[in-house]
Amino acid sequence: IEQSKRLAAFQSVTAHLVPYPHYTRIGIGSGSTVVYVVEAISSLLPRDVLSTMTFYPTGAQSEELIEAAGLNLQYINKLAPGSLLDVCFDGADEVDPALNLIKGGGACLWQEKIVATSSKKFVCVADFRKISPALGTMWKKGIPIEVLPLAANRVLGELERMGSLSPKIRPGLPGKAGAIVTDNGMWIVDAPFKPLRVTGESDREKGEWQVDELADALIKIPGVAEIGLFYGRNGNEGQGGGAQKPVEAY
Ligand code: A5P
Repeated sequence: IEQSKRLAAFQSVTAHLVPYPHYTRIGIGSGSTVVYVVEAISSLLPRDVLSTMTFYPTGAQSEELIEAAGLNLQYINKLAPGSLLDVCFDGADEVDPALNLIKGGGACLWQEKIVATSSKKFVCVADFRKISPALGTMWKKGIPIEVLPLAANRVLGELERMGSLSPKIRPGLPGKAGAIVTDNGMWIVDAPFKPLRVTGESDREKGEWQVDELADALIKIPGVAEIGLFYGRNGNEGQGGGAQKPVEAY
């Protein structure tokens, strides 16, 4: 699995950065696969090219990765209104045939979505275990949802009403009492649903949803800050960014 993550990371960096040394602003996602993306960037690109590049993290973990590799660090809040990063590399927990993603297994989904949608191009790097016919088939823990702590119980109630099968507040790390607290001071609710259809009819009575419909409904629940479904149209250079789905997955 580690070899597969590393191979995917090196392939994606080779395809998107090695022939494009003019890329100067790069988003770096979170998780264990992105460690290899940073390793690939540091080892494949010459120092003089790296010195012209700035790297934008999606949370505390990727901030540390960027700093440890000696790369130039900048924060997404410093990006001028209307400006976009050239490309963002990030992992995923599950990827469907339309390149919709479940993300947030590491609780970094909110900043990940901000950085992905601030990029002209979003490249997803994921090992073979993540490829799925329908979201919710492989990643059975549920869709990660970042919530305001005081709204968590209300959100759980709404999710059950929508057909989620035992949504739960994610506990803290082993040895830590209470819920996990995100980099943004929020909690995570994990909401399992029946595998999400990409197309075709879905029977709401049976708790069936299409990815786009469910995502649109989840984000409207009061108290939900962000959801771990990355969906909708693909990102593309020339489209002005703003997309949540990757243009390519490795
Ligand atoms: C972090 O919140 C997630 O979205 C990660 O990008 C995702 O969980 C992939 O992580 P791994 O690369 O560790 O599998």
